[in-house]
Amino acid sequence: MRTRPLKVALLGCGVVGSEVARIMTTHADDLAARIGAPVELAGVAVRRPDKVRGGIDPALITTDATALVKRGDIDVVVEVIGGIEPARALITTAFEHGASVVSANKALLAQDGATLYAAAERHGQDLYYEAAVAGAIPLIRPLRESLAGDKINRVMGIVNGTTNFILDKMDSTGAGYQEALDEATALGYAEADPTADVEGFDAAAKAAILAGIAFHTRVRLDDVYREGMTEVTAADFASARQMGCTIKLLAICERAADGESVTARVHPAMIPLSHPLASVREAYNAVFVEAEAAGQLMFYGPGAGGSPTASAVLGDVVAVCRNRLNEATGPGESAYTQLPVSPMGDVVTRYHISLDVADKPGVLAQVATVFAEHGVSIDTVRQQGKDGEASLVVVTHRAPDAALSGTVEALRKLDTVRGVASIMRVEGE
Ligand code: NDP
Ligand code: HSE
Repeated sequence: MRTRPLKVALLGCGVVGSEVARIMTTHADDLAARIGAPVELAGVAVRRPDKVRGGIDPALITTDATALVKRGDIDVVVEVIGGIEPARALITTAFEHGASVVSANKALLAQDGATLYAAAERHGQDLYYEAAVAGAIPLIRPLRESLAGDKINRVMGIVNGTTNFILDKMDSTGAGYQEALDEATALGYAEADPTADVEGFDAAAKAAILAGIAFHTRVRLDDVYREGMTEVTAADFASARQMGCTIKLLAICERAADGESVTARVHPAMIPLSHPLASVREAYNAVFVEAEAAGQLMFYGPGAGGSPTASAVLGDVVAVCRNRLNEATGPGESAYTQLPVSPMGDVVTRYHISLDVADKPGVLAQVATVFAEHGVSIDTVRQQGKDGEASLVVVTHRAPDAALSGTVEALRKLDTVRGVASIMRVEGE
């Protein structure tokens, strides 16, 4: 074994970083044996230097992250600060100064992954980011390496723990959105500002990363269609149950049937209770991958939290250190297919539409005509009368999203349609 240690600079020592430091210290001998050289924590950059950080030598703490990554003797920079800047500048500077990078930063990778990959390649360094999608779950490496010989057609998953916890609570206890969010906040799942989670930005960033890797093309956050889950109601869950379904916030990345384009989207959807993703409870994540030769694969586990996320970070640290000892680098960006990302209107799926209508002769026929005029075929209709009005639930066959939008727009113009109570996609059948 080499005795000279590989040096790791830790940028950020919060929920994830503190666990990275702890595991690096407590498992130092095992890590050294697996890598073939000891790894040494060479510096820890934080914002608040006076905060007590148990188990970390205070002499390692600095507020000058730039100076740390510029030292020139650092082998691996672990970026667990989050956000766009200064993380992006620090990662680029790390490459320029001869270090490889391990990051958990999905927001940055989804926005600027191609630039970072290019910088890594230019400087002969590695960029690894297993922890950026679905926390502890090994997903990036299986997609990039284990399935590199296969053709992936679809990736569908629950990639946000906070929203899965909220939806699971709504489903299992009948709680409303706000009540379930309050519980998620009290338990530490949801952040003080839960916007990134509940509005689907976090899941959309992960979808962009997954789609890019799965289809060997570039997909950025802006390419991902996104709907949050704040509008999901107890009535939606009741409707879902009547169909033998539950509701999940799904990230779905698909190759088009003609193979000429891809789509990536995040939105709440009904899925049958028999689908493996329906049984993913609380804050867990799971990702369902469909590959041509391998068939259907499911990856399941904790998608967030300090220790689970640190596990994925350290797996990357070990891989990068091994590469350095072999004077090699791991796989870089693979975007050779250059498949374009199609708009949401091109996505073909099924829909569950709940309408409040006047309960009088001819209304059902009028509604059915609007569907027919837009080429959307109805699968089932369920009607429940209430005081001269009726609630009409229409479930469609598969149709393009643009056709469904046109249908809903036309339905809203009918005098007999009092309102469109909810529109939800139905997936996983
Ligand atoms: P935290 O907010 O807990 O920690 C951020 C850390 O970065 C803190 O230690 C903070 O310092 C430090 N920091 C902030 N700004 C600077 C700066 N300008 N210079 C130096 N240090 C700075 O975040 P998390 O640990 O939760 O998340 C880190 C990353 O991991 C993010 O990209 C996140 O998306 C990702 N991630 C997080 C998961 C989770 O469950 N938390 C799961 C998967 C990925 P100080 O301590 O002084 O405030
Ligand atoms: N806020 C994210 C979640 C953290 O709830 O899943 C993991 O990326």
